[in-house]
Amino acid sequence: METVIRPFRPTDTEAVVALWESCGLVRPWNDPRRDIARKATVQPELFLVATDREAVVAAGMAGFDGHRGWVNYLAVSPDRQGSGLGRRLMAEFERLLTDLGCPKVNLQVRASNEQVIAFYEALGYADDHTVSLGKRLIADDGTEARTDAGLTPRPEPIRRRTVRHLSVDPGGQDTASPTDAANASTIPVVCSAVSRSRSTMPASTTVPIG
Ligand SMILES: CC(C)(COP(=O)(O)OP(=O)(O)OC[C@H]1O[C@@H](n2cnc3c(N)ncnc32)[C@H](O)[C@@H]1OP(=O)(O)O)[C@@H](O)C(=O)NCCC(=O)NCCS
Repeated sequence: METVIRPFRPTDTEAVVALWESCGLVRPWNDPRRDIARKATVQPELFLVATDREAVVAAGMAGFDGHRGWVNYLAVSPDRQGSGLGRRLMAEFERLLTDLGCPKVNLQVRASNEQVIAFYEALGYADDHTVSLGKRLIADDGTEARTDAGLTPRPEPIRRRTVRHLSVDPGGQDTASPTDAANASTIPVVCSAVSRSRSTMPASTTVPIG
């Protein structure tokens, strides 16, 4: 069975949404089809799927903002988890980001999602010990988000230490930049989930951020 990694095609949409749902990555406040449509307009070549005989078995989105690379929505089909596919997909993202001149990759994982943190640590990612902030600019439920300060609904109090900020420098030493937290505050990121199929690891459920 040969697994092929290639850029996402519009005809993959429903399979990718089903994959994300099977991995617990979809949450009510993030419409995955809207997320896919947005990604089609910004660095679509960094939206990858892995297929086996045309069936989508893994997917993920990456982006480079000119300072840092980001990875979101990484998912491997539950029946294929633990077979090295997540590592392959991340290696491809790192290759593409390095080719763009990206010096460092950041991503966010719920602090309680120890299994996914272990996965990223196995790939060389380390905790940046930063607080991750976010602000919704466009609501996916059809309502108009107001961004002018006086009209923006008061956000919930920041609950610290619920998100781990992991990063890797593909070309050298891991470095934590004071600007990383600022980047996190302006870029909505969704990257945490349910990890369920590794028989050697206890299952755990977490709530995605974003
Ligand atoms: C997280 C996920 C993408 C990992 O993909 P995967 O294909 O299962 O991982 P791989 O088989 O490529 O594992 C790569 C390395 O991570 C390690 N690893 C993976 N899961 C692990 C776990 N639960 N605990 C410890 N190590 C783990 C593996 O041992 C492997 O290391 P090795 O090559 O040195 O043996 C996949 O489990 C998944 O889709 N989970 C649900 C969705 C999710 O949580 N996405 C992350 C959003 S932030």
